[in-house]
Amino acid sequence: MRATSLAVLAVPVLVLAARAEPPEDKRVSVAVARDRAVLLHEVFADTLEEVHRHYFRREGAVLPSRALEDVFTRLDRRSGVKARWIAVNTPAMSVNHEPDTAFEKAAAAELAAGKAEYGRVEKGYYLRAGVIPLRAGCVGCHTRNAPITDKKARLAGLVIAIPVRNE
Ligand code: HEC
Repeated sequence: MRATSLAVLAVPVLVLAARAEPPEDKRVSVAVARDRAVLLHEVFADTLEEVHRHYFRREGAVLPSRALEDVFTRLDRRSGVKARWIAVNTPAMSVNHEPDTAFEKAAAAELAAGKAEYGRVEKGYYLRAGVIPLRAGCVGCHTRNAPITDKKARLAGLVIAIPVRNE
């Protein structure tokens, strides 16, 4: 464990300010940028704590998706932003990840059909579902109860709900 931590520390730190000018299509307004910076800061700070809590002590290890659900809970408490895993084209690994609402069911169908994201505004929230790829190292577990018989990519989804003003 000690050797790994030292190796991580030896990686050169990114010097953000010295970067080249960003491309036009990646730019957002300063208000949106500040908002995203605050949110990302909170998400990374919470993730750091949860990763320590779940993985630094061997006896505390849990499944990564479950550890992140603790980050989701903290995010909701801080900002009212909700996040939730959904199964898309593999059996849900937990009953809690079955697509539940009409939005989630439609989103799962759209992502399974090949869309990278699916969004809509509903009851005061901007809802967005995006793809979480289940790659070679993931599908073994995720398709254990439904062996693969075709070549389609397997995916799960992440639904994010952000409160929005009525405009
Ligand atoms: C050792 C078996 C195993 C492997 C390997 C694995 N998972 Fe999982 N995964 C699980 C289990 C079990 C759950 C349900 C956890 C719970 O009870 O909340 C789960 C849940 C999930 C979920 C929530 C959606 C769902 O279907 O329940 C996502 C997303 C997810 N895993 C992504 C991944 C990704 C990405 C990988 C590969 C990088 C991966 N998993 C590899 C066992 C595995």
